[in-house]
Amino acid sequence: MESIVVKGGRKISGEVVIGGAKNSALPLIAATLLAENGKSCLENIPNLRDINTIIRLLEGMGAEINRSDSSLTVTTTAVENCQAPYELVKTMRASILVLGPLLARFGKARVSLPGGCAIGARPVNLHIRGLEQMGAEIEVEHGYIIGRSKRLKGADISFDVTTVTGTENLMMAAVLADGTTHLRNAAREPEIIDLAVFLRKMGARITGEGTHTIVINGVKKLNGADYQVMPDRIEAGTFMIAAGISDGDIIIKNAPLAALGSLVSKLHEIGLAVEPLTEFKEDELLSGIPVRIKRQTSGLHSLDVKTMPYPGFPTDMQAQIMTLMALAQGTSVISETIFENRFMHVFELQRMGADIEVEGRTAVVRGVEKLSGAPVMASDLRASAGLILAGLAADGETVMSRVYHLDRGYSGFEKKLNALGADIKRINE
Ligand code: EPU
Repeated sequence: MESIVVKGGRKISGEVVIGGAKNSALPLIAATLLAENGKSCLENIPNLRDINTIIRLLEGMGAEINRSDSSLTVTTTAVENCQAPYELVKTMRASILVLGPLLARFGKARVSLPGGCAIGARPVNLHIRGLEQMGAEIEVEHGYIIGRSKRLKGADISFDVTTVTGTENLMMAAVLADGTTHLRNAAREPEIIDLAVFLRKMGARITGEGTHTIVINGVKKLNGADYQVMPDRIEAGTFMIAAGISDGDIIIKNAPLAALGSLVSKLHEIGLAVEPLTEFKEDELLSGIPVRIKRQTSGLHSLDVKTMPYPGFPTDMQAQIMTLMALAQGTSVISETIFENRFMHVFELQRMGADIEVEGRTAVVRGVEKLSGAPVMASDLRASAGLILAGLAADGETVMSRVYHLDRGYSGFEKKLNALGADIKRINE
């Protein structure tokens, strides 16, 4: 089993380049299933376990995929096996993203129902209900979602709760539907915009992405297209916190700063300076610019954070900002409103000396002077990043097991941190 060993106490400095966004690349790759003709060439695809999973999923369906460095070419003309097997879906819930495209283009799909998840129940009822409103017949049998449809029909769909992959799935279904679809209370994440721009390049007619109502006029067919994935805002945010927690001074060469507004304002509050080094345009959510991050004050200040759908504070940054709070002066409060069980990292941080109390969906963090290195266990992707960040600041050695969580969403994390002067290695024992 692999573990990551972090020797704490080093200030990081230098420059780092962020990879392509995992949560953008996954729906974009799923969207290539919609192309009847031509190949799609996707650039800036990160090298991650979740990306390998979706590639295997599409290859199993008959797609032709070539990968070199960070580019991926995908031809889906010969796809005929419209199935997503349990063996792959159980390792990555985002596999559900193939359901909308398969039903829209082929009128059939057999996709394993994702099971429970460490961070919450995460049902997919809203994906299914939306597809039914578009005329699909859906049954759940033997753990599989079996969908059939003639050509899907445009519909007026209102989400009860904001769902990112739910919005993406229904956008991809609606682009080939007959007529107009309105998606109301849609998610507004920058990754939704990235998907809409790509779908338009494929020939889709979409407006309103990035607002609460997305309007899609269905077209008869779509073709492959070329596209560059946006930089990963969560990876960028994680490096910002790495600079803050280690009292370092780094430049992120391509931070999607406009997409990080709520995080950056919290980082300012806690005492970090986040300074764009070129012109910053608030509406350029998808572009990366050079940004310098260091502490503005000698200590860190406590603050309160509530996770919310975009443009609120991202749940995917909750574990990481908690590590900064653990070392801030005073008491901070985090409310997790998106997932019901996303505090598993707290118990590991406590083992490193953090003073954190959890009650329901709220964590009260009383800042301590220092953390001490300890053996810890990652429980999910973002928790693993949080524990490594804690290790950067802790006295002595932190050994994190269950590294496979980290590899789902951070490409070359140790390598990038070591290039900035950290002391991290991966061991196999
Ligand atoms: N929900 C329902 N019914 C549904 C769908 C969602 O009740 O049919 C609920 C969920 O249980 C949750 C809330 O709605 O309480 C929001 O979940 P959402 O559907 O938005 O999450 P997701 O689409 O499954 C994506 C990201 C997650 C990120 C969340 C929230 C991808 C591939 N995954 O998940 O990313 O945490 O949005 O922003 O885009 C990660 O990268 O570490 C990660 C978990």
